[in-house]
Amino acid sequence: MDLSQLKIPTHVSVIMDGNGRWAKKKGKPRTFGHKRGAEVVMDICRDADDLGIRYMTIYAFSTENWSRPDLEVKTLMLLFGKYLKICYDEAMKNNMRVRIIGNTSALAPDLQEMIRVLEEDTRMFTGFNLQIAINYGSRDEMLRAMKRMMRDYKDGKISEDDVDEACFGSYLDTADIPDPDLMIRTSGELRLSNYLMWQHAYSEFYFTDTPWPEFNRAELVKAIEAYTARDRRYGKVKEL
Ligand code: FPP
Repeated sequence: MDLSQLKIPTHVSVIMDGNGRWAKKKGKPRTFGHKRGAEVVMDICRDADDLGIRYMTIYAFSTENWSRPDLEVKTLMLLFGKYLKICYDEAMKNNMRVRIIGNTSALAPDLQEMIRVLEEDTRMFTGFNLQIAINYGSRDEMLRAMKRMMRDYKDGKISEDDVDEACFGSYLDTADIPDPDLMIRTSGELRLSNYLMWQHAYSEFYFTDTPWPEFNRAELVKAIEAYTARDRRYGKVKEL
């Protein structure tokens, strides 16, 4: 398909799966796969921006990932630290806004501080929007949202009649970010894995066997081609 014929999604969400299996196949430790995976992230952000995608949300660490071996968790946390620095420089160069979603209060204080500065210093940027999910789980996000709503209810800031989809959405970590149009999961698993369950209500899903460390611009274009060919109806009657 000619690139000009592509229907470009505004927001693409990604489950970057398969780092461990990719590394194992090469006879390397799982952490090798994560390092390569982190490099791929920046390339894909550039490609996405170049193709006209406005928002990308990547699943870097789930609330369930703490149960992985200690060394793997430590390596991932170190990678996040390194990556957030790279991200900061990239954001400054390219007018990119970066937000972290998830329960960041459980992260190391130095990571929390980096996140605060990165979000604060890129708040006014109007280019590409990158959201990184760290210690993120949809159920956890919804429970945190619910608790804040209950506090606001108790304090008289909202009433029962105020509670609609827009109101609930405004309590989620993704407040002000449009819902994903297209969700991509690499490496063959066909699950949502507690990822943006509210926000994915009407998203198109694209699954590929390609492991994340091998994901590239051509793979992204393939996903957008599949998206372009879909008939998106949002529950409406099909137009003939
Ligand atoms: C899933 O692969 C991947 C993760 C749990 C972590 C994703 C992290 C990265 C891509 C690198 C770091 C990201 C940033 C933003 C710096 P897996 O380990 O479950 O692979 P497997 O299914 O083959 O075991």
